[in-house]
Amino acid sequence: MPFALSPDRERTLEDILKRYPTKMAACIPLLHLCQEQEGWISEDVIQFVAHRIDLPPAHVQGVVTFYTLFNQKPVGKHQVWVCRTLPCALRGAGSLLAHCEKKLGIHAGETTADGKITLRTAECLASCGTAPMMQVDKDYHENLTVERVDALLEKLRS
Ligand code: FES
Repeated sequence: MPFALSPDRERTLEDILKRYPTKMAACIPLLHLCQEQEGWISEDVIQFVAHRIDLPPAHVQGVVTFYTLFNQKPVGKHQVWVCRTLPCALRGAGSLLAHCEKKLGIHAGETTADGKITLRTAECLASCGTAPMMQVDKDYHENLTVERVDALLEKLRS
């Protein structure tokens, strides 16, 4: 069955389209809306977005592949982004990432077998003063230690 937005999100899309001078300008907000519903951007979603805002599917695909916040494959219930840019790296982000990989039994970019956690790396998330840090779904967790990371991961898995 082709992708369709839920009635609530369809109304949100109508509001979004009113905000922009052209349909094309709504591409990123519309992709976010679709990802919020599906968890990722499938080929069906790309076709849907292209059709709704009168763009070639290749254009929408280009947007999806450019921005790392768009998931190009199914992801876990929670997403854990470990910042790996220099300030975080200098404060131990590398070993925290390795710890997460060992604890979860996956590598960065993979999802746990129970589908609960996708582990990813991120470039600077603009919280360098509280490095090392990670983003879990929409929340920042800062000044991390191995103990705090363990507690976070346990909570996500429960
Ligand atoms: S380097 Fe990690 S938040 Fe900036």
